[in-house]
Amino acid sequence: MIPNELIRFKQIGQKIIVLTAWDSISSGIVEEAGADIVLVGDSLAMVALGHATTLPVTLEQMLHHAQAVERGFKKPLTKQPLIVCDLPFLSYQCGEEHAVAAAGSLLKNSSTCAVKVEGAQPETLSVIKRLIRAGIPVMGHLGLTPQSVHQLGYRRQAEDKISQEHILSEALDLEKAGCFAIVLEHIPSEVTGHITNILKIPIIGIGAGEDCDGQVRVTADLLGLSLKQPPFSKPLISGRELFIQELKKWVEVERH
Ligand code: KIV
Repeated sequence: MIPNELIRFKQIGQKIIVLTAWDSISSGIVEEAGADIVLVGDSLAMVALGHATTLPVTLEQMLHHAQAVERGFKKPLTKQPLIVCDLPFLSYQCGEEHAVAAAGSLLKNSSTCAVKVEGAQPETLSVIKRLIRAGIPVMGHLGLTPQSVHQLGYRRQAEDKISQEHILSEALDLEKAGCFAIVLEHIPSEVTGHITNILKIPIIGIGAGEDCDGQVRVTADLLGLSLKQPPFSKPLISGRELFIQELKKWVEVERH
């Protein structure tokens, strides 16, 4: 499958499942669990590297993790999930050619088949169009965009009428620019539903309700491994507690 074919999922009403992975262990697990797309999200800056925000992670680190993620897949090539990798902060904000080189290096040196880019400002739209002309599929990301944390915080977005109209027009701009899908993060579910109905490309939500074409989750949050759980991503299990308890038992046994 190629990213543009995901539109078929929307047309036949099959939900798209996206899970993040940051290394070979996590990618093997999410592949086995049935994810359609594995996102090497820049959330790995917080989840795996211990940073307070996603800003410090570099392109080289993203590539390193994308390569680890692809090595974790065990299914035959045609059955493996697609790998989408985040373009980290400042790898696409400093001009189109810089962005093509950054995204190109991910596609050239790993099995990444598409990149995700936050926002839809005029400069970002130009970058997205340039990437697509260079043969690099792009997934958009609107709503809570963590690379703009110092402007938006981690608050829910699109709360009032004006910002709801704005996010719809940004989503339309991203579709027109050629994005194959858009992530909507932490916005009211009725806004997600409205955008999902209007756009032809798939809308993938996180903290954005059920009224969309798919869901994306940070796997560490779902498994209860993250120290700071986002309020909109409830853990399925208390993974951290479970691991600590089991390891404590082992430590006790080995000590005596
Ligand atoms: O970096 C990430 O994991 C993401 C998801 C939250 C969509 O962008």
